[in-house]
Amino acid sequence: MISAATKTTARIVRPSAYGTPDVLAVFDTPVPRPAADGVVVEVRAAGVNPIDWKLYSGAFHAVDKKNEDAAGVAGEALPAIGLECAGVITAIGPEAAGFGIGDEVIVFPVTAAYADYVTAPVSSLTPKPAGLGWAEAGALMLVGTTAVHTLHAAGVGEGDTVLVHGGSGGVGLMAVQLAAARGATVIATAAERNHGLLRELGAIPVAYGDGLLDRVRAVAPGGVTAAVDLAGTAEALDTSLELVADRQRIASIAGTDRRATAGIKVLGYGPGQDAGAEVRNAARAELAALAGTGELRVVVDAVYPLHEAAKAHQAGIDGHAPGKLVLIP
Ligand SMILES: NC(=O)c1ccc[n+]([C@@H]2O[C@H](COP(=O)([O-])OP(=O)(O)OC[C@H]3O[C@@H](n4cnc5c(N)ncnc54)[C@H](OP(=O)(O)O)[C@@H]3O)[C@@H](O)[C@H]2O)c1
Repeated sequence: MISAATKTTARIVRPSAYGTPDVLAVFDTPVPRPAADGVVVEVRAAGVNPIDWKLYSGAFHAVDKKNEDAAGVAGEALPAIGLECAGVITAIGPEAAGFGIGDEVIVFPVTAAYADYVTAPVSSLTPKPAGLGWAEAGALMLVGTTAVHTLHAAGVGEGDTVLVHGGSGGVGLMAVQLAAARGATVIATAAERNHGLLRELGAIPVAYGDGLLDRVRAVAPGGVTAAVDLAGTAEALDTSLELVADRQRIASIAGTDRRATAGIKVLGYGPGQDAGAEVRNAARAELAALAGTGELRVVVDAVYPLHEAAKAHQAGIDGHAPGKLVLIP
């Protein structure tokens, strides 16, 4: 192993129980060592995503009063959080090739990125473009690769009119820009206060809520050929089903089990869903390149110090200005 690390102790933020963000705590942990074919990265920025709080909230299973999940898991078996980050390589395993100490990299996918250091296989590394800031680099990949997968699944390209539900969210801002770059006409749903940003990014904004169907029809007289649902509401699903003739051109990353029998494409990591690993992994280099030149904007709403992860999660749950939340160790 080659190592440039001088510290022996690092911090990691983990849930101490199942529950609300106040269960997050900072723990001391030894600076990790790389696997034979992996690296250690000193984290400069970690992206915050809804999955991070869903993992310890009980959203995926029942949690009882003792904060144990349905399988009786608690304490040290609680999930590590943080699925993406960017930073500087500080140690390299003997079989790891292609990267060196001091390289600036984006790390995705990874686990336990809410920390001073992460370990990752070389296959999770993308060189960070020099023109991309740390916060933007740390928050680009989870939403960027998800957006690419949804547009791919819905077959969005030149000449399409695509409806993006949840256009002002982390995934939505990526999907809007990437769909516009492919030559599609983009209609994006969002709260009124976010319509200006969506226009700047090339979309026709429409407010969600009562009357959505009529509002979309009014701005798409030629019809809607595809839809990507990043909001997961009953309204979004029903509107997509009503407007898009070919159900295989509706892709959803959020929502209820009703999607499974609707004949649409359900993307993600649940049973029967398409995780799209190949498409998502293949998208990373191009996303970095586009973000590096500024052709793809990574909108950052707020950065928080690592120890304020709970505050960042509460902001994510409560709703906040458009753009990513980011932790800086
Ligand atoms: N399956 C997968 O592979 C995958 C991957 C990534 C994310 N996800 C899931 O996808 C969802 C979106 O993720 P994200 O990172 O984009 O979340 P986010 O940044 O928190 O954005 C959520 C957006 O939803 C919008 N919204 C709220 N209520 C709405 C409604 N009634 N109708 C339409 N839009 C509404 C909000 O827009 P306004 O602020 O304009 O109200 C907000 O910007 C989350 O549930 C996440 O867990 C799934």
